[in-house]
Amino acid sequence: MYVCICKGITDSQIRQTVASTGGSLRSVRNELGAMTQCGKCALQTRDIVNQTLAEM
Ligand code: FES
Repeated sequence: MYVCICKGITDSQIRQTVASTGGSLRSVRNELGAMTQCGKCALQTRDIVNQTLAEM
């Protein structure tokens, strides 16, 4: 499912980035560009990052 419409980023991409980088909101922003335009995806991105970290 698309989380960031501006950049066309899916929840799967966010999970993969968290897994490959050790996981932080900043790394998702830097690696994928999420939250860098309108910012409406920030809360959902944060939730996915936290959920992924909790499952690791
Ligand atoms: Fe992610 Fe706009 S939806 S920056």
